Amino acid sequence: MAKRGFNLVLISRTQSKLEALQKELEDQHHVVVKILAIDIAEDKESNYESIKELCAQLPITVLVNNVGQSHSIPVPFLETEEKELRDIITINNTATLLITQIIAPKIVETVKAENKKSGTRGLILTMGSFGGLIPTPLLATYSGSKSFLQSWSNSLAGELSKDAIDVELIISYLVTSSMSKIRRSSLMIPNPQQFVKSTLRSVGRRCGSQERYATMTPYWAHAVYQFVITETFGVYSKIVNSINYSFHKSIRIRALKKRPQDRLKRNRIIVLEIVFIQYIYIYIYIYKKSMAYVLYLLMYQYIHIWPY
Ligand SMILES: NC(=O)c1ccc[n+]([C@@H]2O[C@H](COP(=O)([O-])OP(=O)(O)OC[C@H]3O[C@@H](n4cnc5c(N)ncnc54)[C@H](OP(=O)(O)O)[C@@H]3O)[C@@H](O)[C@H]2O)c1
Repeated sequence: MAKRGFNLVLISRTQSKLEALQKELEDQHHVVVKILAIDIAEDKESNYESIKELCAQLPITVLVNNVGQSHSIPVPFLETEEKELRDIITINNTATLLITQIIAPKIVETVKAENKKSGTRGLILTMGSFGGLIPTPLLATYSGSKSFLQSWSNSLAGELSKDAIDVELIISYLVTSSMSKIRRSSLMIPNPQQFVKSTLRSVGRRCGSQERYATMTPYWAHAVYQFVITETFGVYSKIVNSINYSFHKSIRIRALKKRPQDRLKRNRIIVLEIVFIQYIYIYIYIYKKSMAYVLYLLMYQYIHIWPY
């Protein structure tokens, strides 16, 4: 956005990272960058007051609700620690809503003042996820929080279209980042630069989210994956749920490997996992031998085994 000449307000948790990025953007793109370091998981009134103060005198046309947290590793819902559960809901939902309540009126005001002379429109982008698109066992709280954003963002889109503000939910599969803990990019897993480039190029287009109002799946490989799932089994189907469960269970096993106290538990899970996967494979090959199933199986193997 700085490259396109936007002045920016960056809000996140770590002051040092913000300062480094501020300097880089100001030096490279000659825009004004304001920063604010707050821990939004604390859910304090003073955090929101600081945002209000910082933005009080600024004309604002774009809000990007990017902040998000997932589970540290896939975990059964019944074993999810209360702090993790509360942080996910506070960061992904409460903070996103409260920040939008502060910034959206400023966008309405700015667009009203500028729209007549320059045709300016406002834009509110919110990061959704495949976790919200498809119910995701072992990431249940994260999945629910992102699914919440789908309905909320779409509803807001309906309310703000009369004010010349486009509200869009962005759906993404994995991207390399500290949250996903994936370092190596691949055809299916872009790096953040590739993802942001495709997002900014796609504003106003649905790409992989053809059937969803005010929603886009901008990265091409994610769009194809979404298309295959929605047009074959459907996002709420049992088979997609089972495959997703087995995928996240295998991630959990790999994460637990690092904890010696969980070694015994892990061995039992591995046996179950092998039996479960073999069962699915046999079922697919013997009883459902259609091109869609074979294609899905191949994509599943490629996507889920390749990055690790
Ligand atoms: N990566 C993926 O595979 C993926 C897939 C689908 C959707 N998404 C969504 O994309 C968005 C960005 O994810 P990401 O992978 O880029 O995550 P990330 O690397 O962890 O970055 C998250 C950003 O949010 C800030 N942040 C996190 N917790 C915060 C808190 N408590 N208070 C203030 N700021 C906080 C971080 O600041 P600090 O760096 O200072 O901590 C960082 O700038 C999220 O909404 C996520 O759900 C990601």
